[in-house]
Amino acid sequence: MAKQTIVTMPGDGIGKTVLPEALRVLDAVGFEPEYVHADIGWDFWIKEGNALPERTIELLEEHKIGLFGAITSKPKDQAAAELAPELRNKGHVYSSPIVGLRQHFDLDICIRPCRSFKGNPLNFIRRQGDGYVEPQVNVVIFRQNTEGLYSGVEWTGPPAQVRAALETHPKMARYKDTPSEDLAISARIFTRKACHRICREAFAYARKFGYRSVTVCEKPNVIRETSGMMRAEAKKVAKDYPEIALWETNIDAQMMWLTKNPEDYGVLVAGNMFGDIISDGFAGLVGGLGFACSANIGREVAVFEPTHGSAPKYAQLSPPIVNPIAMILSACMMLDHIGEVEKATRIREAVGAVIAEGKVRTYDMMRIPGGPQALSQGAAKTTAMTDAIIARLG
Ligand code: NAI
Ligand code: MG
Repeated sequence: MAKQTIVTMPGDGIGKTVLPEALRVLDAVGFEPEYVHADIGWDFWIKEGNALPERTIELLEEHKIGLFGAITSKPKDQAAAELAPELRNKGHVYSSPIVGLRQHFDLDICIRPCRSFKGNPLNFIRRQGDGYVEPQVNVVIFRQNTEGLYSGVEWTGPPAQVRAALETHPKMARYKDTPSEDLAISARIFTRKACHRICREAFAYARKFGYRSVTVCEKPNVIRETSGMMRAEAKKVAKDYPEIALWETNIDAQMMWLTKNPEDYGVLVAGNMFGDIISDGFAGLVGGLGFACSANIGREVAVFEPTHGSAPKYAQLSPPIVNPIAMILSACMMLDHIGEVEKATRIREAVGAVIAEGKVRTYDMMRIPGGPQALSQGAAKTTAMTDAIIARLG
């Protein structure tokens, strides 16, 4: 069998710190693919006017599996100002390369597990009687990754023909006196195909890993058409999975319930925006950004990344202090995806053991401010956390 090739895209800031740490763990667990480095991020925006160079797209087209760190994004005017002088005023417009990758390869299935590790001091606790309980959270969010409010179909001041088309809807009557330039419209576009696919993936995952419920989290009572379509597809798919309960929640109520009874939920499925919201909500219960891993999966290509960004304020610190666990767990999702489940499980168990032991904790786990002083306050360096995980690999 040909050796698996993994495209590594460290990107910017702490992406460059945490990705090599994940590779060290992969190495230690005996995973030995070829790695090929791909350029992505701010440096390439500045030097080439493109944060997602064509050669990176070609590498992913060829090898299909990517491991991604993080990128830095900046507002349009700031991006333009940092562009190399010879590239200015040549029509280059900055756009986020990770959003670009999701769209280019139609990575429409986003999976974000939020599982609490025993002994993590950041775990959510709930008051009960005179004491407290620490609910075990084991939730996996399936977020539609390419459509909805992120479709990019939006205007401030819609063109006349768009306005005219909208005015065929009776509910537009109340805006008839609003000048177009005072009208901002972001289209929430859902397709049946994409709704069906994300629901299908959610149920298949629930069956494979023994979850008893899939919760479709939208707001179909108000957003009748788009949320309604997601709900309808969830109901259709549910018929093929009689052993799994289909629950329905509204996004607002779900945000309340996620602290009230997070332990009741298993797999959740939602559109792009609500999926983003609930995944951050649940991530907050299990340690936040240092622990939040994710997968972006398309029909051919898949890219695995921590959900955190480039954390510029910590990027220059030497030695680095950020938590590599989110990146390491993202690498585990990659191993699962390519069938190396046993190695992924061993890594996750090692992570769990280090957290449970509680001797090695990065600054975020100690709830102290990040910065060089964190180390003298007992926080572990990034590399020390990785070393501890490697030492625990059975
Ligand atoms: P961020 O996720 O980079 O950092 C926010 C804060 O979270 C940090 O300042 C730090 O306190 C903490 N943090 C993040 N990762 C951590 C880790 N591994 N260990 C310990 N603490 C950690 O988000 P922010 O500051 O909003 O954005 C910074 C840059 O990252 C921006 O340019 C933004 O556009 C970009 N970004 C990129 C993403 C990606 O590559 N997918 C996602 C989110 C933001
Ligand atoms: Mg988010």
